[in-house]
Amino acid sequence: MKANIAEKVLADDIEKVLLSSEDIKRRVAELGRQISEDYKDKDVVLVGILRGAFVFLADLIREISIPVETDFIAISSYGSSSTTSGVVRILKDLDEDIEGRDVLIIEDILDTGLTLKYLVKNLSSRRPASLEICSFIVKECKQSVAISLKYLGYTVPNRFVVGYGLDYAQRYRNLPFVGTLKPYVYERDEI
Ligand code: PRP
Repeated sequence: MKANIAEKVLADDIEKVLLSSEDIKRRVAELGRQISEDYKDKDVVLVGILRGAFVFLADLIREISIPVETDFIAISSYGSSSTTSGVVRILKDLDEDIEGRDVLIIEDILDTGLTLKYLVKNLSSRRPASLEICSFIVKECKQSVAISLKYLGYTVPNRFVVGYGLDYAQRYRNLPFVGTLKPYVYERDEI
């Protein structure tokens, strides 16, 4: 009962559901199948970008049918809570050496592209055999740098979106769908 109330309170802050949990499940299964096919003879490491990508990665690996390893890197961007500066600090580095491995970066959202630009440069310097990106979401018309994605779940409008790992002020990550936030939620924090 308690869980239902909590979910209702969170969902009440949502203006519009953009991606339902059923849509997401279908798309993630497609991505998993595609990755399994493309990487079947490779030595693949999935690198999840904390914190946002943990939900997507957790579902995605269960749709992948080939042996894979997972590792995580936690980063923090300098700048305000709503914009990325591109200057990134590594809070937790990878545990494994990726030299000679086929690395697939798993990201929840590509917004300006500055975070991924930094990560690609950083991880490339460790000499992986290959380095590609799978992003669950890309925001429409927002990238200030060109980022090439091997896999993409969805393109969404340039709005504040939450759920399925995406947060506002660290909340809403646990919503099973992706939606836009009602403006009053962030406007009340601006006062
Ligand atoms: C989000 C997201 C990406 C980054 C994308 O992370 O997870 O890593 O922003 O933005 P960009 O394309 O403009 O660089 P955030 O800093 O919100 O941290 P989180 O993963 O902990 O939610």
